[in-house]
Amino acid sequence: METQNKIVVVGIGPGNPDYIVPKGLKAIEQAKFLVGGRRALNQFAADGQETCPITADIQGVMDFIRAKVKLDNVVAMVSGDPGYYSLLDALRREFPAEQITVIPGISAMQYAFARLALPWHDATLASFHGRTPTAQDIAYKQGKILGLLTDSKYNSQTIAEILLQAGWPKTQTMHICSHLSYDDETVVTTTLGEAIKLTAVAHCILIIV
Ligand SMILES: C[S@@+](CC[C@H](N)C(=O)[O-])C[C@H]1O[C@@H](n2cnc3c(N)ncnc32)[C@H](O)[C@@H]1O
Repeated sequence: METQNKIVVVGIGPGNPDYIVPKGLKAIEQAKFLVGGRRALNQFAADGQETCPITADIQGVMDFIRAKVKLDNVVAMVSGDPGYYSLLDALRREFPAEQITVIPGISAMQYAFARLALPWHDATLASFHGRTPTAQDIAYKQGKILGLLTDSKYNSQTIAEILLQAGWPKTQTMHICSHLSYDDETVVTTTLGEAIKLTAVAHCILIIV
């Protein structure tokens, strides 16, 4: 029956499979229908699973899910945690909440703070990934800790410029955290004044402390 089947949204963590919770991994392994970014599908899809890549054609992905959930559960893999800027938003607009089961994952943001051994309960989190945060989010205040998602346009260089214009000091520390959890994981610790001269790093996490 259509309503009995679920859309199971699995947070696959920052990238390295060691950081997926076992319940998420089990759901992926047992899936008949598996949705995910191409990288995730290459990593996790097994023979016999029918897959649908998440591309810019989000409506196409929704159509696939709508058709297949009539037959069985559909598992959708998203990076990091589903509750933090993922396909879950669009799924909630298309399907009733009762039909969606979320298996949480470790967000890249969470991982970045862990990597720096830095508590994040007092941090202000904001996203420059395909959007811009409010002026209030990124306003300077002494002692403020900022955690930022980035994309290719809003990268370590352009965001450092924006923060300097917003009144942050040139000497403020910026951690540029890229490829988190992968073998080529890199954390560069610099200042905002230096970051505007360094090669831009995109699709990373920026922690300003
Ligand atoms: C659309 S957001 C998805 C966030 C995801 N739901 C999460 O909880 O981590 C994509 C952004 O997350 C960050 N990101 C995701 N994986 C990352 C990683 N392994 N290393 C560094 N940043 C990462 C980058 O800023 C990237 O542009």
